[in-house]
Amino acid sequence: SDQRIYRASTTAPVNIAVIKYWGKRDPNLNLPTNDSLSITLSQSDLRTHTTASCSSTYRASTPSDSLLLNGKTEPLTTPRSIVCLRSLRALRSKLESENPELPKLSTYPLRIASSNNFPTAAGLASSAAGFAALIRAIADLYELPQDPRTLSVIARQGSGSACRSLFGGYVAWDAGVREDGLDSCARVVASRSPWPEMRALILVASAAQKDVSSTAGMQTTVKTSGLFRQRLEDVPRRMKEMERAILMRDFETFAEITRRESNSFHATCLDTDPPIFYLNETSKMAIRAVEAMNKEAGMAVATYTFDAGPNCVIYYLEMEWNFIAAKLHVALKGKEGWPKGSMSDLSGLRMGN
Ligand code: PMV
Repeated sequence: SDQRIYRASTTAPVNIAVIKYWGKRDPNLNLPTNDSLSITLSQSDLRTHTTASCSSTYRASTPSDSLLLNGKTEPLTTPRSIVCLRSLRALRSKLESENPELPKLSTYPLRIASSNNFPTAAGLASSAAGFAALIRAIADLYELPQDPRTLSVIARQGSGSACRSLFGGYVAWDAGVREDGLDSCARVVASRSPWPEMRALILVASAAQKDVSSTAGMQTTVKTSGLFRQRLEDVPRRMKEMERAILMRDFETFAEITRRESNSFHATCLDTDPPIFYLNETSKMAIRAVEAMNKEAGMAVATYTFDAGPNCVIYYLEMEWNFIAAKLHVALKGKEGWPKGSMSDLSGLRMGN
């Protein structure tokens, strides 16, 4: 019988949304209530590295699928992972029935080894990179011919935002209208190269895990927040303006939509019953610092956005770095909750193609 070990490795980067995904119209399929748009960071910054392997010989020791996450063994039994593995196995199985000479990889146990090049506990978007890397590694292992859109549909079922991490650059996730979700996946708005000066800086305002998961938070917001319904009316226009701003490299508009989107999202969190607080005092200090520097400059030199946690992502253009760094230094250094270390520890992250 076939004793070989089959293996494939890949990496997927973190993405940070400027138009936020918040709300599911179908929680089982992870279908969103609105379109969203994010920027994928470069592979050299925050990313997950994943190796997928399978072999008939694994049956003897670990008959089921297993996951080694940052060196710790974990079962691959969350409903989300099961759905993703089932979809990928079904595609492989179809390929095997069409090509009987292929080894029956779909029947072998899978072993996944995954690690982040940043602390998983730091509250930074890790599920997006994690699921994107998982899906791509298994698709490579199974030599699936499917296009990135199909893989994006599968990744979406693992973690909504993961569907965007399969693409580089500026990436939209179209909510779609179909009940089966086959039109709810990511699409590239622009590659990174037309706007090479764009940078992201991540300010870690707290390394603690978030206390309300995005899935739980979204569900409560959808059920209880009136502001959320207002937000749904604003997002389509913001999506259009944002796509135009990116294609025109209009940082002023990009900056305005990004900060207002983040504030709108966190306002709906506060309007949720019971209220959800993701921002802390350090987050608010960062907001004030960016608002003040833009005012002083008389133009947008930077903008901010926060996901379901207190860490601040500042988007800015490279040429403004010295001014921005000096202002952040004055506003934030040594404040409670601020990471130890000098300002030189903070540097802009590049973003991927
Ligand atoms: O993909 P999830 O379920 O972790 O949700 C992510 C939600 C936000 O990060 C807050 C917004 C977004 O669009 O990424």
